Amino acid sequence: MTGLRITVLPGDGIGPEVVAQALAVLDAVAPEVEVDVLDRVNATTFARTGAALTDDDLARIRASDALLLGAIGDPSVRSPDYARGVLLRLRFELDLYVNQRPAVLLHARLSPLRDPARRGIDCVIVRENTEGAYTGIGGTLRKWTPHETAIDADVSTYHGVSRVIEHAFRIARREVCVVDKANAVPFGGELWQRCWREAAGRHPGIATSHLYVDVAAMTLVSDPTRFDVVVASNAHGDILSDVAAAVAGGLGAAPSANLDPATGFGLYEPVHGSAPDIAGTGVANPLGAIASLAMLLADHGHEDQAQAIQTAIRSTVDKRRCTPDLGGALTTEQAAAAVIAELA
Ligand code: NAD
Ligand code: IPM
Ligand code: MN
Repeated sequence: MTGLRITVLPGDGIGPEVVAQALAVLDAVAPEVEVDVLDRVNATTFARTGAALTDDDLARIRASDALLLGAIGDPSVRSPDYARGVLLRLRFELDLYVNQRPAVLLHARLSPLRDPARRGIDCVIVRENTEGAYTGIGGTLRKWTPHETAIDADVSTYHGVSRVIEHAFRIARREVCVVDKANAVPFGGELWQRCWREAAGRHPGIATSHLYVDVAAMTLVSDPTRFDVVVASNAHGDILSDVAAAVAGGLGAAPSANLDPATGFGLYEPVHGSAPDIAGTGVANPLGAIASLAMLLADHGHEDQAQAIQTAIRSTVDKRRCTPDLGGALTTEQAAAAVIAELA
């Protein structure tokens, strides 16, 4: 068996800052892992060439075992073509149809919830990742007139919905909560409901429930302890995963895995973006990127190292050896060094 080979796409803003620290952690736990860095894929390249991610880049990514990404996005590039040409292209072309975003309370002091009994969030948001409102299907009619009409289709396919709900049931420990807006959005809503009933029938040992997305968002902040696995469409899952991250202790520490469970290929990235408001100041929290690396390692035969990273993260946060967003006073680099010190 050959060793693990990963591609790394640092991206923009705090992306390169947090990825550098995840790579320092990788070097500490698994220095044998081969790393191929694609540092040309960023907003500057997009502004110059109109295509940040080339076919060659994609081929390099496909030839590796997994991709670790920092963040894509810059205020100088307003066009959605940039994120669509990099992040969404990767998710769509590699058919990474599951976006798995665990939200586990890092420390009681970080919960924004008033009631201590309800703070213990420990759930996974499973976000559909290849269709929904993100397909780019639509258009603008009667542009530049007072009757201008912009249409973005919300696409649900039986194939897409049934496979992501099936995945949610496969990873559930006790319950799957299916989230949609079937009370108002008729066609996709009916399809989500039917795929839910079919999957529930295949998994009689897993309890199941349903919430409309507005109530799901509310419940994530009123009683998140009731959730195990939440499965939702692309746009709903995007929003719910930021809410869940905040309830678990903060966006800066939230990891994610974009997966094709059929091939095992994954794109691992923090849930946060490029945070232009703090980029270059040295305070970006590296834990989301480091925890994403841990997810990558766990999925690729390095479970012990992944576990050690998780334990080290918790321990640094317990001791407030972390960045200001988590109540610490460390820089990005010092926070990662603290994790590495805990590993030793
Ligand atoms: P954001 O996630 O970048 O930032 C939201 C807020 O959280 C900001 O106040 C930021 O300072 C803070 N924050 C985020 N990550 C942090 C960290 N690691 N440590 C401390 N604080 C952190 O969201 P945004 O401002 O809406 O987006 C900025 C850019 O990033 C946009 O171009 C957006 O499209 C892009 N984006 C990219 C991804 C991705 O690449 N996966 C994800 C989300 C947003
Ligand atoms: C995320 C981000 C992206 C998304 C943006 C940058 C297109 O918010 O990964 O959550 O909406 O999927
Ligand atoms: Mn998002």
